[in-house]
Amino acid sequence: MTKLVKKAVIPAAGLGTRFLPFSKAVPKEMLPIIDRPVIQYIVEEAVEAGLDDILIITSRHKKAIEDHFDRHTELELALEAKSKFEDSNLVRSLSEMANIHFVRQGEARGLGHAIGMARQHVGNEPFAVLLGDDIMTGGVLKGMVDTYNQQGTSVVALMEVAKEDISSYGCAAVDALGTQIVEVKDLVEKPPVAEAPSNLAIMGRYLFTPAIFDEIDATKPGVGGEIQITDAMVSLMKKERLLGYTFSEGRFDTGMKIDYLRAVVEFALEREDLGQEFRELLKGICTREGLT
Ligand code: UTP
Repeated sequence: MTKLVKKAVIPAAGLGTRFLPFSKAVPKEMLPIIDRPVIQYIVEEAVEAGLDDILIITSRHKKAIEDHFDRHTELELALEAKSKFEDSNLVRSLSEMANIHFVRQGEARGLGHAIGMARQHVGNEPFAVLLGDDIMTGGVLKGMVDTYNQQGTSVVALMEVAKEDISSYGCAAVDALGTQIVEVKDLVEKPPVAEAPSNLAIMGRYLFTPAIFDEIDATKPGVGGEIQITDAMVSLMKKERLLGYTFSEGRFDTGMKIDYLRAVVEFALEREDLGQEFRELLKGICTREGLT
């Protein structure tokens, strides 16, 4: 019988070089979307999908991530002394969102290597992977968990991108199964545009059977000298089926400056406490810049 997915792994130990100098001392996963760090959205998404055993892959330079999900009793007491009970509850609730565990990746050797760090915690169970800098709205992970629980095989999130952008992503060759679920036939990491088998790109959500760990262990450094999860998935596909879960919107790669800005603007517009005022502010800027 298929074991149900209960655990989530969030790799957040990368160097974040596209966000320097900010990411020198502060993890890019702690970039604020208004007043919440990116990684909080990711943890919330895992919890919403029913996964409350969460392992964050971190590094010695990223202590702020651990602190964010820990108690801060001094702050809680100071807020309570000023009768700011709502704020105090907000601070405490971060430590109660889920069972959050941490393991350190001593060296940033790539996403495949980071996921491999989860082996002992995950054990012989299926698990989800959510990239620590990729915010996704719209229930993609929940849909993937349901797909795994029905089909019992690994699933990867796929989104169509412009043909000229495909060389920034892992690319999937697929056979259509249904409207949303496709059978993955092959994967290539960052192919040149002319050689890309499709414009379906791998986006930061995966559901793996524990068999992926042996494939990661056997994977040699690939593109960029890193241990690529895509290479481990290609080996896994020789032994097990891989399904693709396609979606078309609601993804923000906050590790990229322009997509980070888009996330801040979109989320601010949606906020009950800020949306209206921010909309007026944007209108003013658009008028001034002649953008209307
Ligand atoms: P990215 O490739 O977006 O992160 O990995 P990066 O390597 O930190 O970014 P740049 O290219 O230097 O700007 C996606 C996720 O995987 C994690 C990252 O922290 C990010 O959340 N990651 C990546 C690891 O945990 N370990 C690694 O060795 C690489």
